[in-house]
Amino acid sequence: MIKKILTADNTETFLNEEVGESYHSQTGAVEEALKKYAIPCKIKELAKTGNIKILDVCSGLGYNSAMAIDVALEENLNCEIEVVALEFDPVIVKKVLEVNPPIKSIELYKEMVKDNDLKSRKINFNKNNIKINLIIGDARETCKELPDNYFDAIFFDPFSPKTSPEMWQVPFFSEMSRVMKNSAILATFSCARIVRENISKAGLFYDDGPIIGRRGPGTVATKWV
Ligand SMILES: C[S@@+](CC[C@H](N)C(=O)[O-])C[C@H]1O[C@@H](n2cnc3c(N)ncnc32)[C@H](O)[C@@H]1O
Repeated sequence: MIKKILTADNTETFLNEEVGESYHSQTGAVEEALKKYAIPCKIKELAKTGNIKILDVCSGLGYNSAMAIDVALEENLNCEIEVVALEFDPVIVKKVLEVNPPIKSIELYKEMVKDNDLKSRKINFNKNNIKINLIIGDARETCKELPDNYFDAIFFDPFSPKTSPEMWQVPFFSEMSRVMKNSAILATFSCARIVRENISKAGLFYDDGPIIGRRGPGTVATKWV
């Protein structure tokens, strides 16, 4: 069962009762999209260059990349933005139609879902200077289709390492490293020791991400110290 819940910043997400986890932090779903992903990945600064490529891993409802699009367009309305979204479950992708977070660009995700039955494995959605390519499947496999040195930012947002340990292993982080530009930043909500060890083993450097409330700091990873 997937049940709608309200988080502490008054924005909606869903609780997956089977998995026993919600799709966003209960301290604030939209706050998390901004403060754990868009800000540490420096989306505002990237927007000034006029071109951003974002990999949204485990994209779910699309909050993280939709928020990044808002932040980028606020800085530079003409910025060309390409999002590749990797998600396993078409059911949660469709659920975006049932929520109304204060993220303008969530409307793009709603349009994408309305225009598609999500039966195809790849969905390409274009509007003005925004491109969203959704690839449905196991992200550990679908990421292998992505080009080397391509992305400026990676939002890495699987269920927790406790629930989904398979998503936090070295080979998947090595793939992330492969598709990152040398200047890219990967951000994730987890600061678990095993996650950081695996990030290091994949050849990336890590640091604390921002602290929100009383929760742990999250992690940012780069190819440079
Ligand atoms: C914490 S939620 C992410 C929420 C999402 N970022 C959002 O803004 O809605 C974790 C997501 O990982 C997806 N997932 C789980 N296993 C996966 C896999 N092997 N490949 C791709 N996605 C997976 C789940 O379906 C779920 O949507």
